[in-house]
Amino acid sequence: MKVIELKEDYIELIDQTKLPEALEYLRCYDIECLAKAIKNLSIRGAPALGVAAAFGLALVAKKNIEKDSSEVLKELEKAGNILKSTRPTAVNLFWAIDRVLERAKKSRNPAKAAIEEASKVYEENREVDKKIALEGAKLIEDGDVIITHCNTGVLATAGYYGTALGVIIQAFKEGKSIKVFADETRPLLQGARLTSFELVYHKIPVYVIPDGASGFIMKKYGVTKAIVGADRIASNGDTANKIGTYNLAIVSKEHNVEFYVAAPLSTIDTNIKSGDEIPIEFRSREELKFFNGKRIVAEGADIINPAFDVTPNKYIDGIITEKGVLKKPYEESIRKAFSTH
Ligand code: MRU
Repeated sequence: MKVIELKEDYIELIDQTKLPEALEYLRCYDIECLAKAIKNLSIRGAPALGVAAAFGLALVAKKNIEKDSSEVLKELEKAGNILKSTRPTAVNLFWAIDRVLERAKKSRNPAKAAIEEASKVYEENREVDKKIALEGAKLIEDGDVIITHCNTGVLATAGYYGTALGVIIQAFKEGKSIKVFADETRPLLQGARLTSFELVYHKIPVYVIPDGASGFIMKKYGVTKAIVGADRIASNGDTANKIGTYNLAIVSKEHNVEFYVAAPLSTIDTNIKSGDEIPIEFRSREELKFFNGKRIVAEGADIINPAFDVTPNKYIDGIITEKGVLKKPYEESIRKAFSTH
């Protein structure tokens, strides 16, 4: 499944807002279109946002390839700023833009360098996804009952199998007998729409459940592990992920369910000490006010719609990365993972 592709003069991406009813592709010929696609979640998921941003800069580089270096750099910076203003929480977006810009600035041919670096970001993503899946699958035992939140598959990474979902898919492909519960993930239903789509694609049986059912499901069906993704992880392991992850972590603790985060090192923000510093995206009230185009919230009631929450590190039993499973104390294991990076 090609989630996003850089073509000659446009970017083609699966419009995830249309899934699972329709597999439609969107073509962006300019950065404004890509920024809009990111804002409305046509493309989403932290690592995929990194790839999208890198491809966005590569597209700008291609369009300005005839210009002189300083003009190219100006255009790249401008595009970088537009993309950085789309969504604040997923650090991969910022990481990819800075990486491509830095490479371009160091080169005598910034356009060529930006195109090359963007394709590296994409290729590395695929490799990192594979490693996370293999590392994480080692933790999965035959008979495990796993719960996951949001969508963390290839749709969210534009890589191989994804992160948390990659671990689940890999374990299944290794022949382990597992049962999977997927939170529907209100309000935009990434779990119900996208995770179910991916698991059905891989012929892995899945039960979609309402977000609020996780405690009941854990108790009734003997859930053994929770595996989620991340949008930004602080140096101490505090993890921002889709709203509802924090609740899931607390409920997991109560039911002795092991709670894992699966994410590439590019999702770890070593510039911040703790989760308190993670910028949280608040989305429009309309996303909650309406369901299927019909108003469901009474006139006069106000709405708060945070897209992410932060799970404190104490609830996390391990962070599955391409460098293995990081354990507490996370300050130390994260530092070590980066020192050999
Ligand atoms: O709002 P979204 O759909 O971009 O949120 C996605 C998530 O929260 C994912 O869990 C996270 O980005 C990890 S994706 C491998």
